[in-house]
Amino acid sequence: MPNWLNDAVFYEIYPQSFYDSNGDGIGDLQGIIQKLDYVKNLGCNAIWLNPVYDSPFMDAGYDVRDYKRVAPRYGTNEDLVRLFEEAHTRGIKILLDLVPGHTSDTHPWFSEAKKAAENEFSNRYIFTRSVWDAPPEYRMMCGICERNGNYMVNYFSSQPALNYGFYEITHPEWQLPPDHPDCRKTVEAIKDIIRFWLDKGADGFRVDMADSLVKNDDEKIATAKIWRSVREMLDKEYPEAALVAEWCWPQRAINDGGFHMDFYLDHVGNGYCKLFRAGLWGSDAVFNKNGCGDLKGFVDEYLPRYNQTKDNGYISFMTNNHDMPRVTAYLDKQAIKLVNAFIFTMPGVPFLYYGDELGMRYQADLISKEGGFSRTGSRTPMQWNSGKNLGFSESDEPYLPVDKSADAPTVENQKNDPDSIYKVVTDMIALRHRYPDLRGNGELEFMYEEGKIPFAYRRGSLVMYFNPLGVDFKINTRYDGDVIYKLGSAEIKDGVIHMQPQSFLMIETL
Ligand code: NOJ
Repeated sequence: MPNWLNDAVFYEIYPQSFYDSNGDGIGDLQGIIQKLDYVKNLGCNAIWLNPVYDSPFMDAGYDVRDYKRVAPRYGTNEDLVRLFEEAHTRGIKILLDLVPGHTSDTHPWFSEAKKAAENEFSNRYIFTRSVWDAPPEYRMMCGICERNGNYMVNYFSSQPALNYGFYEITHPEWQLPPDHPDCRKTVEAIKDIIRFWLDKGADGFRVDMADSLVKNDDEKIATAKIWRSVREMLDKEYPEAALVAEWCWPQRAINDGGFHMDFYLDHVGNGYCKLFRAGLWGSDAVFNKNGCGDLKGFVDEYLPRYNQTKDNGYISFMTNNHDMPRVTAYLDKQAIKLVNAFIFTMPGVPFLYYGDELGMRYQADLISKEGGFSRTGSRTPMQWNSGKNLGFSESDEPYLPVDKSADAPTVENQKNDPDSIYKVVTDMIALRHRYPDLRGNGELEFMYEEGKIPFAYRRGSLVMYFNPLGVDFKINTRYDGDVIYKLGSAEIKDGVIHMQPQSFLMIETL
């Protein structure tokens, strides 16, 4: 386990929207290099970079055409190596995005696989034996290539699924077992890509749809086995490299697959969703001031997962990512401050999505860009200052329009505002670094009674109290101590804690 993860705080950068250094309207690697000091000053010491590889951008780069070449719009491979170096001199690690489940349908492997004549790549993707064979239980593209067969897609139609085999074989005429030499070759091809970028200085990968490799593998047994073999390779050859799974099943991803981290994703009705998004536009969310305020639904799901995986890896909370509406669509400013106090005081490795430190707004009405659809509104350019395109780009045609509201938050106007979300985010990250108890593997004990507000949890010597609701509460507490941090109005005196609406209190126990 790389030691650096215990104190890691990640910043997710969506490269096309972060900073455009050459005025072509699209963010680029040089732009990220220029903003590394900004990332460092947030307190983040690691970056997850969404895909920067050559791609036709039907899915914003998750449709890879060449895994080993940076997309020209972002720069060159040399620029990426320079980004690694510049980040490392500032103590920042960089995780690239690995997309192992599928490629673009313009990838050269796929061009070969589509050919009628059998070749080295005929089994790199999943084809049926005839175009008349399209079992409805699979998502297939039918009758569009020279080869007599239909192929399976993993996400959008332009993303054919790579072939790692089938755990349960229901159509033996075209489904291969995971240990078939050609499926093993797919695994080796992915390991080769991992080595390629780690050798150039990357510090690891966020793994896209990590659970999607082997098909008919409901329990994900065979998929986890592949990742375990990747972990073994890392332990042997790159022990400092880290992998975070887009999976949301930490027992499988961490304990079996060997991932160092697994994202707590937003799935309808799950624990993460209950915190920030549940109900109609967050109406039932724990952190909505008119919501349920009860942590039970979250704890019931999270705690067993945490207890079963904490010795092997980290569950990663995120403020948001490029696939979900920003939390500003659901919660008011004070609630968002409380959310940040929560995320940065939980165990595991937290992820901050670019712009969330400002409270950037979800832009609901944008026309889809590069396969974003409803996600497009969370992918708008970073808001730096009051200049053209809010400082993102000098171009007249930025990648996406910036927030047009007169009070759009920017780094410039938030940085020195004592009432800003920026202040809370940077304060909380600083506290996390300052108190080892708050870090990734520090202990956690929930202290709450069902339905009772405030809810609280203890992390070593520190106790966090939250009253997310719009009314005040008073309770007895067994802990007394010094107030380390406060949001809203709250006090603790003689074993009684009194919390005004939407408040947070962190105390250090005596
Ligand atoms: C998950 C990624 O986060 C998302 O943006 C992408 O569209 C799909 N995987 C497909 O790769």
